[in-house]
Amino acid sequence: MTTLLQVDNLQQTFLLQQGLRKVPFEALRGVSFSLQAGRALALVGESGCGKSTTARVITRMHEPTAGRVLLHGQDVTELKSRRALKAYRKSLQMVFQDPFGSLNPTRSVRHHLTRPLRLHQPALKRRQLQQQLEALLELVELGDPGMLDKYPHQMSGGQRQRVNLARALAVEPEVLIADEPTSMLDVSIRMDMLNLFRKLKAERQLGLLYITHDIATAQYVAEDTAVMYAGQIVEYGPTASVIDHPSHDYTRLLLSSVPDPTRSFAELAAEESDFRERADRIRQQSRAAGSDYEKVAEGHYCLRQAVTQQKEALC
Ligand SMILES: Nc1ncnc2c1ncn2[C@@H]1O[C@H](COP(=O)(O)OP(=O)(O)OP(=O)(O)O)[C@@H](O)[C@H]1O
Ligand SMILES: [Mg+2]
Repeated sequence: MTTLLQVDNLQQTFLLQQGLRKVPFEALRGVSFSLQAGRALALVGESGCGKSTTARVITRMHEPTAGRVLLHGQDVTELKSRRALKAYRKSLQMVFQDPFGSLNPTRSVRHHLTRPLRLHQPALKRRQLQQQLEALLELVELGDPGMLDKYPHQMSGGQRQRVNLARALAVEPEVLIADEPTSMLDVSIRMDMLNLFRKLKAERQLGLLYITHDIATAQYVAEDTAVMYAGQIVEYGPTASVIDHPSHDYTRLLLSSVPDPTRSFAELAAEESDFRERADRIRQQSRAAGSDYEKVAEGHYCLRQAVTQQKEALC
């Protein structure tokens, strides 16, 4: 396996204004993982746990308070020159949650895709450019070349997200970060999109970081899963092992929140308040800082919980 990107003990502290005082808030507390060529890692956790902050630090939108991000072993948090940063941004691209907000409404698909192609290959002749534009559409399964002259408002959410993906792939990145790429799409097309990510990852040997709050979708895309809570990875390992044998109470909580379609509303409602109480207790306990991981199975690790607790019977 070729390691493309390593994230090593990332810390991110924000200073929040509270009245006249500035109070530190630790959004990331020692996040580490690596991405391999042709494999995906799902970074899973509920809102506010630090998923997008991790992505923003990796893409250099934020300077980390501490920790390193290494691409092919080189620390990119130290890159300063415009040239080095530009090269890094070519190697690593990102697809965001909102497919509409990421596109300029006054510009056509052709415009959105021509820019990165020209940046990446300045010597492209007109005919070659047209061929490459069409190849990009094929790649993201938007085959019809007429699509090039459409504007964002003339496309569906799924088509817009495919254009975003094509734009990211135009510079032939090695690493792709997809931050909740399907959460604003209609449920009926989410699976197609996830399958597309899976196909592209394998074909292009991408190192994919798939960010989601929905642990159930991780298994469709990602070989490995890291579960995050309150700025820490609480459990990580092969996706099947994490989902089938969750070890941290918080992972078990996340899995138990996935709706079970076979159970009636009345049944679920009866358990609701009991569930909430246990969920609050688990969240509270899972906040404790730690850096000591125990091995659960091959490649599967769990953050040692500060107090040895009776495992909550959640799933
Ligand atoms: N620039 C910032 N200044 C201060 N606090 C921030 C900043 N960016 C993020 N935070 C805080 O850091 C925490 C993590 O935010 P982040 O956006 O990483 O969460 P997330 O896991 O991506 O959540 P979601 O699933 O809702 O997108 C949140 O409490 C957020 O309010
Ligand atoms: Mg986010």
